[in-house]
Amino acid sequence: MGKDVIVACDFASAEDTFRFLERFQGRKPFVKIGMELFYAQGPSIVTRLKERGHKIFLDLKLHDIPNTVKKAMSVLSRLDVDICNLHAAGTKAMMRAALEGLTRPDGTRPLLIAVTQLTSTDQKTMEEDLLIHDSMDRVVLHYARNAKESGLDGVVCSPWEAKEVHACCGRDFLTVTPGIRFADGDAGDQKRIMTPAAARQIGSDYIVVGRPVTAAADPVAAYERCIKEFVDGTGAGRL
Ligand code: C5P
Repeated sequence: MGKDVIVACDFASAEDTFRFLERFQGRKPFVKIGMELFYAQGPSIVTRLKERGHKIFLDLKLHDIPNTVKKAMSVLSRLDVDICNLHAAGTKAMMRAALEGLTRPDGTRPLLIAVTQLTSTDQKTMEEDLLIHDSMDRVVLHYARNAKESGLDGVVCSPWEAKEVHACCGRDFLTVTPGIRFADGDAGDQKRIMTPAAARQIGSDYIVVGRPVTAAADPVAAYERCIKEFVDGTGAGRL
């Protein structure tokens, strides 16, 4: 897969999601479905979006004992999603089990990527709440290496970490990066942000964009701006 922009459809219902996506008319953005929408609507939201021609990143961030995650992934493998994910903190055994569960009888499977450390976790909370005393960068790279060694396809990380992850795990190991904001936009609650143009320069493979598109006065124009900056490499936007 080449570079693409994934729109985070953080809506509470299928109706809100379809109303939003109808504005795109001919275009079919790659969409991210998170816990809120999936738990509200069930697997049918995936089927319905697929029928409409969207690629799907199912962002459910699984984290449990290996056997439970393997069985859950096996259920998810029947949904025709393109990317799904789990927490690298669940250990290499859990990641290997997940991959096994996700692989269909014919050998095909969706891409599987790992969350390293959530962007809502900072050094202080990692040390105080999780008793992890290494630096955030080293923890993220260690988790990325674990994911690679377990056979996963990539990680979700901050765009600021994408270059290092590629240097340590290889150019083909995917970096899927949220925390994207336009140069003239609002940061909101995101702390480590980057523009789509800068994320392209630094080597992110996919950017995940939520509010800069979903809350824009003209979401289609905002999406096109992301495509121009990140996929086409045209348009402004600095680090
Ligand atoms: O609105 P915004 O662009 O901040 O949305 C980013 C999306 O990426 C949200 O759906 C958020 O849950 C998700 N995400 C994130 N940081 C991570 C993992 C996922 O912001 N580490």
